[in-house]
Parts: sequence; structure tokens; C-alpha cells
Amino acid sequence: QRAPAAGSLLTEASLGRRGFLRLVELAAELKDAHAAGLEVRRLGGKNIALIFEKASTRTRCAFEVAAAEQGASTTYLGPEGSHIGREESIADTAQVLGHLYDGIEFRGFAQETVEELAAYAGVPVWNGLTDQWHPTQMLADVLTIRETVSPDLSGVAWTYVGDGRNNVARSILVTGAMLGMNVRIAAPPSLQPPPDVHDLAAGLAAESGGTTLVTDDVGEAVAGTDVIYTDTWVSMGEPDSVWDERVELLRPYRVTAELMGRSGKASTRFLHCLPSVHDEKTELGRRVFERYGLSGAEVTDEVFIAPASVVFQQAENRMHTIKAVLVSSLAG
Ligand code: CP
Ligand code: NVA
Repeated sequence: QRAPAAGSLLTEASLGRRGFLRLVELAAELKDAHAAGLEVRRLGGKNIALIFEKASTRTRCAFEVAAAEQGASTTYLGPEGSHIGREESIADTAQVLGHLYDGIEFRGFAQETVEELAAYAGVPVWNGLTDQWHPTQMLADVLTIRETVSPDLSGVAWTYVGDGRNNVARSILVTGAMLGMNVRIAAPPSLQPPPDVHDLAAGLAAESGGTTLVTDDVGEAVAGTDVIYTDTWVSMGEPDSVWDERVELLRPYRVTAELMGRSGKASTRFLHCLPSVHDEKTELGRRVFERYGLSGAEVTDEVFIAPASVVFQQAENRMHTIKAVLVSSLAG
């Protein structure tokens, strides 16, 4: 058991402000180079394992495309079909994969699992989402905010509205604080980030010159904000039965056109990590409509498809930022 290998990414806070911004800068350079047809392949001969205990579209595809464009190979290990965590411990798996691969991505439930993997692998381990944190999402979100709001992040107001206890909300609070932003979480009291996360963020904000606000007053949170961000009301791994309670608690926190207007700024952008319930075109969206009479849950379709919504640019940026993580960790 050792410290995580250099180049590992387990939480956003472990990168520090400079390390985080260096990755965003590299992602912007790689994105430009790719668009200009000038991408240099720096990961030829590298092999990457992708472990997913939970489903994924963006994170999996971003890792696979980023690796392919840089000349590396990937192996996808899904929720079924490997021995991980059932017939074979995390420590043994880490040592096996660490001897075969140059780096390992892990998405799953417990943060402790990705940390144990990193302690035994001897190669860089990247957190592709746990119940606690979603650091690669944060890199894409910050690149998107740089592109669509301001290249200078200090003082940019970033407001998350909805389930404030989930991985994405916790990561936004910490990331925004670390980068000197004006970060706000609007959620009912029982769904606010736990005190230890708020304390971590407040400490980082004190160093960076940022500010943090956690409130149940959604109007106060969105006033003057540059970004309104939300996420699904029920995260992967939570039982379907929590939908009733979440709808009850979070109805006042839906991102509607009216809520967007309460920022008081025409330039306010809408971001969402996706996937999202914004219409009835999915099975889940249909169930939400039939059971609660809501068209869209955490966001309405009107907001989702409006010009202020940059969710697909944000999704593309998952790939450019993950490419930066791979290049920075593995390319010499
Ligand atoms: N935003 C995100 O992590 O999406 P996936 O679950 O599709 O990877
Ligand atoms: N909070 C969501 C994010 C998905 C990318 C979940 O954990 O399911």
C-alpha cells in the first residue's frame, strides 16, 4: 500500500487551484489543436483500464475517445463480467491491473474504493465519479464556464440548485471555492451539503478570495448569478422510492424560465452534467409526468433547449478535459 501514483485524480481539492487550472488550460490547448487538425499523439503504446460499477455514457465515451485520439488503448470493465469486488478484492485487482495497464479509471459507489485502488495500483488512478465527488466533471464544467462566461474565473457566480447532497453539488461547492469563484448552493435544509464539505469549501474560499453560500432561499442564490446549474433529483444507486420525497422537497428548486430570469442577467448560462429529466421522451421522464404532473423534473425543456443552455458544449468538454488528464498523467 502506497500513496497514489503521481498523476492520480481522486478529488478536485487534491489537485489544488494551480493544478486544476493547469489541466483546464491544457484541455483548451488540446481542444484547439484537435480542431485545427494539429493534434500530436502523445500516448502511443499506453494501455488504460476503465472500471465502471455504475452506468455511464459521457465519462466512458470521453475516456475512450480521448485515449483513441492520443493513440492509447482502453479496456472497458463494466458492472458485470469481471471479478472486481466479488471474487477478487480491490487491493488484488489494483495490483493485477497495475502490472498490465499504465492508468486506471474507476467509477463507483464508495470514495474509499477508488482510494484503495490508488493505494495498491502503483499507476495513476482517476475518479470517474463516486457517491462523494465527480472531479472530471468539474474540469469540463470549468472549461465551459471559461468559454461561455469569462476566461477570468475570479468572482464569477456559479449557482447550483437542487439536491445539494449529491456528488456534483459537493464537487461544485469545493471547486468553485478553490478557484476564487462566488459559489452558491440552493437546496432545502435536509438536502444541503454536509458541514464537513461546506467547511472544506469555506477554507478554500478564504485562501482563494472566493465566497460560498449555502441557502434554502433560491431567489437569494440566483440573484446576479452567471451560471445556474442543476443535476438529477435522484442519483445512481439511490432507490426509486425516494422520488416521491425528492419531488415534494425540490419542486421549488426546478430550473424554469422564470427562475433563469431571477438572475437579473440576460447572459446567465444554464449548465447540467447530464443525463437530465427535461421532457417525457425517456421512460423516467414519462413516469415523472404521469405520477407528479411535471413535464421535466429538475429542469424544464424550455430552459434545456434555450440558447442560454450550453449543456452539449459542456458534454463535449468532458472529452477534452479527460484528454488533458490522460496526457498530463501519462505522457512522459
Ligand atoms: N455527466 C456524466 O458523468 O455522465 P455519464 O454518467 O453519462 O458518464
Ligand atoms: N448525481 C448524478 C450525476 C451523474 C453524472 C449521479 O450520481 O447519478
